[in-house]
Amino acid sequence: MNVKDKVAVVTGGASGLGLATVTRLVEKGAKVVIFDVNEAKAKEAVQQLGESVQYVLVNVADDESVQKGISQALEAFGAIHICVNCAGVGTPGKTIGKKGVLPLEDFNRVIGINLIGTFNVLRLAANEMKNNQPLTDSGERGVIINTASVAAFDGQMGQAAYGASKAGVAGMALPVSRDLSQFGIRVNTIAPGLFMTPMADTLPDKVIEKLAASVEFPKRLGRPSEYAELALFMIEHEYLNGEVIRLDGGIRMSPR
Ligand SMILES: NC(=O)c1ccc[n+]([C@@H]2O[C@H](COP(=O)([O-])OP(=O)(O)OC[C@H]3O[C@@H](n4cnc5c(N)ncnc54)[C@H](O)[C@@H]3O)[C@@H](O)[C@H]2O)c1
Repeated sequence: MNVKDKVAVVTGGASGLGLATVTRLVEKGAKVVIFDVNEAKAKEAVQQLGESVQYVLVNVADDESVQKGISQALEAFGAIHICVNCAGVGTPGKTIGKKGVLPLEDFNRVIGINLIGTFNVLRLAANEMKNNQPLTDSGERGVIINTASVAAFDGQMGQAAYGASKAGVAGMALPVSRDLSQFGIRVNTIAPGLFMTPMADTLPDKVIEKLAASVEFPKRLGRPSEYAELALFMIEHEYLNGEVIRLDGGIRMSPR
């Protein structure tokens, strides 16, 4: 799909990988609606990027909130062609840690935002995409990009909830693309390694240095613009569908 003059919803678009994707899409001539809970950062992004970008306060884990967001996106720009799911939380917690057993609500929260939130937004966005006029000879109407993590495959200690949530996102790539193929909607998933975003900033410097050293090549953390470039490629490349791509410099995470 050529993104020029298309409308994209980007969840988590106020920060990190989402913000880099919003920026890249706008550079390529798309209109973007940011769904995020961080109002201050989202407003900053809108101010910087201009009138092609709008912001709606949306909690991806909440059905009603996303329904409202979708309605407002349609009101603002008239259609939805692209949905990029970047909203997520990385809250760590060992199954049995120093403070005892992991509270079930902590596990539920991470699953609720990362996994259920991703499905919640993609299902409602796809429900609008199916009404688009076909954009290509093949009948393409929409593209969805989800964000898993290498933790889906080699999660570290303390990542039971995060790894499970991201394995769920990776696991839905094929079935959802099968469900939506009849409407001409493609679904692809990026599984990032360690990227230099505010989420990674919460890790101690020592951990970041160690992780950078454990990347095969290049020996550094990923740049958000590199994620955005792959997201754009997945949107533009019509034959790429139902796929999960690790974007990680070849890293395989150690247990801790
Ligand atoms: N940074 C990394 O190294 C890395 C690695 C692998 C996967 N990821 C995944 O990439 C995605 C983006 O991560 P990031 O590093 O850019 O993080 P980030 O913290 O910079 O951005 C995440 C954004 O999601 C928003 N958000 C959180 N909960 C939300 C909710 N319930 N509803 C709406 N918005 C919500 C936050 O406000 C924030 O703006 C996440 O899903 C994360 O798990 C990141």
